[in-house]
Amino acid sequence: MNKKPPTPFPTTTYYGPEYFCDRKEEIKTLINNINSHQSTTLIAIIRMGKTGLINHLQYHISKDWESIYIDILSTENLNDLLNSLSTAILKTIPEKTKIGQKIWNFFKSLHVTLSYDPLTREPNVSFDLKQNEGKTQIKNLLHMLDQHHKPVLIAIDEFQQITSYPEKGTDAYLRTIIQQLKNVVFIFSGSQQHIMHDLFSNPSKPFFRSTAFLHLEKINFKTYQKFIINQFENHKKGISKEVVEEILNWTYLHTYYVQLLCNRVFMVCKKEATTKTWQNEATRLLKEQEMVFFTYREMLTKSQWKLIKAIAKEGKVYSITATSFIQKYGFGSSSGILRSVHSLMKKELINKQYDDEGNQYYSIYDVLFLRWLEAL
Ligand SMILES: Nc1ncnc2c1ncn2[C@@H]1O[C@H](COP(=O)(O)OP(=O)(O)OP(=O)(O)O)[C@@H](O)[C@H]1O
Ligand SMILES: [Mg+2]
Repeated sequence: MNKKPPTPFPTTTYYGPEYFCDRKEEIKTLINNINSHQSTTLIAIIRMGKTGLINHLQYHISKDWESIYIDILSTENLNDLLNSLSTAILKTIPEKTKIGQKIWNFFKSLHVTLSYDPLTREPNVSFDLKQNEGKTQIKNLLHMLDQHHKPVLIAIDEFQQITSYPEKGTDAYLRTIIQQLKNVVFIFSGSQQHIMHDLFSNPSKPFFRSTAFLHLEKINFKTYQKFIINQFENHKKGISKEVVEEILNWTYLHTYYVQLLCNRVFMVCKKEATTKTWQNEATRLLKEQEMVFFTYREMLTKSQWKLIKAIAKEGKVYSITATSFIQKYGFGSSSGILRSVHSLMKKELINKQYDDEGNQYYSIYDVLFLRWLEAL
């Protein structure tokens, strides 16, 4: 890692361990899993740090493992998945190695088109495939990787995307191939918790019990606090424990929002960041997003808007159809609420989360939207 982020609080990609806070236990668990050839399902709400954790893991195991990362959010079918996997392999495994040559020959046999991203100059592979051919070729490619002299880790980010492929039974197909591999271990990561849970813990689904689960929670308060103070001090700026505490409270300790606010505060702060500094930056962030929030309001019906405001006021809503909740906010009926919940979930404006005791509640994951709603 030789590039440096503009501030010690990156909000986009992984810049190496100096910019990464904690996750020691999670890394230990992941390393244990892969060493025992156990695949992992990594689940967390959006922007909690799943992708960052995978990158951090890759940093730690890079010597012993060939590790391949793909984000399949933009894929729409198995042919796309093959393209995506092939592109990642091409970037990771050098052509001059034995396995590299084999893979290249395979690519050539499939009438490969190689293009380069105009900005990053990164190679991009695509094949001229007949419908359904991707399916067979994914199998061939994975079996080829299984022959590699190094063990191979394949991390598939946004894995829930396979459930929207038009090919029926993609999960069953992949599961069958994966079961045959001896040298390849997987991490399946996703933020759509209900889909991920259904894929991996529903007894009637092919992936049932095939992986270990890792739920990524918030970073420990004290650990994050220390980390932030250190990042400031290492760059000859100051911030007190109390001010960091205020920042962590305002951002609900949600990784991306902590990073975002710290990034802004660090940028504007000359010597010492104060309560005023972070409050100004927080206000600015809300202002920048306001147009988006107005669009949300236009997109929603009156009752959906009313419900989301009530959820914001409550923070966490455990029983959304409870009489007390209905009366407090003057809702009509519980069936009306359930309909609104359904649409708000579909629009990903609210989500279901679990607390430490395993109880489910509804909340708004977008901290900026939540803070904006609270202030209405
Ligand atoms: N442990 C960490 N320490 C510091 N920054 C982190 C940490 N984990 C994640 N980040 C940063 O927080 C931001 C959000 O994390 P990331 O993109 O990994 O989340 P995600 O769960 O993959 O989100 P999404 O669901 O949107 O894909 C990124 O900028 C990332 O660099
Ligand atoms: Mg991600």
